Amino acid sequence: MALPGFSETGDDAIPLVVIDKAGLSVWLDDQPARVATWLRRTGFDGETGSWRAIPAVDGDIAMVIAGRNEGDALWSLAGLPMGLPEGLVFALEAGVSGAEDICLGWACGSYAFDRYRPAKRQPASLAWPDGVDRAQVTAMGEAMALGRDLVNTPAENMGPLELAAAAQQLAEHNSAEVKVCVGESLLTEGYPAVHAVGRASSRIPRLIDLKWGGKGAPRVTLVGKGVCFDTGGLNLKNAAGMERMKKDMGGAACVLAVASMVMQRELPIQLRVLIPAVDNAVDGNALRPMDIVTTRKGLKIEIGDTDAEGRVVLADALAAAVEEEPDLVIDMATLTGAARVAMGPDLPACFGSDDALANELCDAGAAKDDPLWPFPLVGAYRGHMASDLADTNTIADLPFADHIQAALFLQQFVGETTPWLHIDTFCWNPSARPGRPKGGEIQGARAVFELLCRRYGKTSDD
Ligand code: BES
Ligand code: MN
Ligand code: ZN
Repeated sequence: MALPGFSETGDDAIPLVVIDKAGLSVWLDDQPARVATWLRRTGFDGETGSWRAIPAVDGDIAMVIAGRNEGDALWSLAGLPMGLPEGLVFALEAGVSGAEDICLGWACGSYAFDRYRPAKRQPASLAWPDGVDRAQVTAMGEAMALGRDLVNTPAENMGPLELAAAAQQLAEHNSAEVKVCVGESLLTEGYPAVHAVGRASSRIPRLIDLKWGGKGAPRVTLVGKGVCFDTGGLNLKNAAGMERMKKDMGGAACVLAVASMVMQRELPIQLRVLIPAVDNAVDGNALRPMDIVTTRKGLKIEIGDTDAEGRVVLADALAAAVEEEPDLVIDMATLTGAARVAMGPDLPACFGSDDALANELCDAGAAKDDPLWPFPLVGAYRGHMASDLADTNTIADLPFADHIQAALFLQQFVGETTPWLHIDTFCWNPSARPGRPKGGEIQGARAVFELLCRRYGKTSDD
């Protein structure tokens, strides 16, 4: 399948010249007056995202000049696919630095969610530049689009069944195996906490378990929060709090995006993806505050608030993940509002079983323009989650740093021995920016993939 926004052929393509802002005035001095004067008269300053079409004498577009600040690559030209006239093909000049990043940004900027109405326009096309690894860009671009589609799809059409179907489709495409444990079988297969959260919805809960890769390779297990809609349960959210909760399966979308990258690029690992897929709904049999749930691990948890449902479903999935003693477990979840209060929508919080591991992830993210921020698992806060009747409560008795409390809660199910990363992510662009349309976003997936590439043999630039 061709990647939207790209053209196989560069014949008759319009040259696309990228100018670094710092070098603009020197560059202008070397240009014919037709170009230099036009750019000066139209106020072109080389700022990232700015561009000008230079007319030819016959009225055609002779070339397009695009600016970028030093160091910007990924998003620098990402506004062009939906900014330049549709139907035209552009070609980067040979040797432009960061061409692969520019291509991935172009792919992200060519994305439109068109399930319910046709896109307003098609993206302008970029001819594949020489020397860019098309397969790599295509794998990354398709994974981002897949994840965004899953998050953007309204809960009505993206319930536990549909989320499982998406995982099955991805598995089929990559010759992976997937097992889905459905409804009451969650009780017999050892996922009681997933069942407890999901049982109140007519859309019955599921545990998705995808496996891919050859035996003997390092084992990496990804766990994604798949709450298809989070009403809050009996501790019902208010209207503003519930508004975007179709995106509460964003963690699942992120891990499926990572899985797609791993499988398309054939990373030499044994991959497992676990997704508890549920609705957090209201019904007569809904989980109640102060109910006590026995989890897969045997730990009994007291439900402090039915709206803290993500950590409950992840408890069973993480317990299952560590049973096979993988080399690395990474969970991704739209887990807490607190992470957003702390860092805003663009910077997911991450936690690691050790600081070096968390820093490794943050470094990988920084290198790929997919930033994350490390937070500590503050041991001194553990006492705040004590329960009078059970082994632990699901929430703390202090109204602070719930992202840390949630991570501490999860840690109880991971244990001490398995290297573990936890990503608390937002998965949403509140407003549109170049390459990042308003709506569902896949955050942290490229960082995770880069970490896996660095650790397990390939770099994502290979
Ligand atoms: N899915 C939400 C967290 C969330 C809210 C993520 C908004 C991103 C944006 C989660 O299930 C939740 O409701 N968390 C509660 C926990 C509280 C009850 C301890 C929260 O953050 O308010
Ligand atoms: Mn909730
Ligand atoms: Zn939730």
